[in-house]
Amino acid sequence: MGICWSNRIGVSGCCMNGGFPGVTSKNVSRDGNDLSGSSSKVSFTSIPATPKSEGEILESSNLKNFSFSELRTATRNFRPDSVLGEGGFGSVFKGWIDENSLAVSKPGTGMVIAVKRLNQEGFQGHKEWLAEINYLGQLHHPNLVKLIGYCLEDEHRLLVYEFMPKGSMENHLFRRGSYFQPLSWSLRMKVALGAAKGLAFLHNAESKVIYRDFKTSNILLDSNYNAKLSDFGLARDGPTGDKSHVSTRVMGTFGYAAPEYLSTGHLTTKSDVYSFGVVLLEMLSGRRAVDKNRPTGQHNLVEWARPYLTNKRKFFRVMDARLEGQYSMTRAQKAANLAVQCLATEPKVRPSMDEVVTVLEQLQDSKDTTKSSQKEHHVNAGPRSSKRSTEEASGTTAYPRPSASPLYT
Ligand SMILES: Nc1ncnc2c1ncn2[C@@H]1O[C@H](COP(=O)(O)OP(=O)(O)OP(=O)(O)O)[C@@H](O)[C@H]1O
Ligand SMILES: [Mg+2]
Repeated sequence: MGICWSNRIGVSGCCMNGGFPGVTSKNVSRDGNDLSGSSSKVSFTSIPATPKSEGEILESSNLKNFSFSELRTATRNFRPDSVLGEGGFGSVFKGWIDENSLAVSKPGTGMVIAVKRLNQEGFQGHKEWLAEINYLGQLHHPNLVKLIGYCLEDEHRLLVYEFMPKGSMENHLFRRGSYFQPLSWSLRMKVALGAAKGLAFLHNAESKVIYRDFKTSNILLDSNYNAKLSDFGLARDGPTGDKSHVSTRVMGTFGYAAPEYLSTGHLTTKSDVYSFGVVLLEMLSGRRAVDKNRPTGQHNLVEWARPYLTNKRKFFRVMDARLEGQYSMTRAQKAANLAVQCLATEPKVRPSMDEVVTVLEQLQDSKDTTKSSQKEHHVNAGPRSSKRSTEEASGTTAYPRPSASPLYT
């Protein structure tokens, strides 16, 4: 059984059961608090009884409805040099608005925003655009990116977010260049904890939300490396009542999707836990979930790493050589164990995201007195790792970018 991975999206119609992805079968009940200005407040929502119409979603979101010309001005006519990144749905541009009135401000003044402009080919992505508004318009948490507004005008579909100055975790882990220095062990653990808290919040929210596209490019970082999840286009409400899963067309990003989800289309919160395990492994190893540029046998990170991770004496082979000397043996092993647990083939065996958060809290830097011993350092600095460092430092490798798409089994 093979998996055909299409590079780019084709997501229109991804919505299973005839609904919007994430536009649920339940009513949304907002709590009425204005949480917009607070980064520490958390709001729960959702739990709907009937699917909401597009109008209801847009109205109930409390987001600003921008005109296309406002966003064109805010981004200086979508100037190519203000592109922050490109994804499967389109490009993301830097722009400026007034912090209080949210009116467009002179470029360079006011509050910085990130404007995602969807490609206009045949309204592809409209459902994901709406799902983003449905979820981020309702859910507020310090570890979810803040959606400020949207634009729906003729064929234009845009989303306006708070600007995340440090960009995506993907860039910090895999981009080479002077701006992207290798992220330290403690920052990686900090980001892992923040992202885990975001997922735990979604899973615990009154209506369980399954994120479904957890990957390093969807973890955005603020100036203090606080992690925030973005991209709810593929999110779905979790099972209700005594149902164990929701059935979906298989969507996501190859390399991150849980095996049982790929083979059955049955989606549970444990599918997200698996994806979290993949991302944690990427953070520990500095390797991409899927990398065709690696030698045969190393293309799939999980398959390659699993035998090492479960061996106490060999798990160091998986660790990123650029982290040498930054972590204690105990902590590294604990983090590796956590990844193994999240990647368990049997979903029930995987920890909940709350449990993941607990373990990661113990791995934060506060009182680490047992920094890497000389012995540990030596183990890491073996011939394999030095060779890898040199290759990676050259920055010449062309990595294929994983992107969300339908995943066929
Ligand atoms: N709010 C933001 N602030 C700063 N940079 C952002 C923001 N949102 C997105 N970006 C940048 O733009 C890039 C593209 O984002 P986008 O969500 O469109 O695609 P992606 O997550 O990389 O891939 P996919 O299409 O699979 O979701 C991100 O990887 C990030 O570098
Ligand atoms: Mg994204």
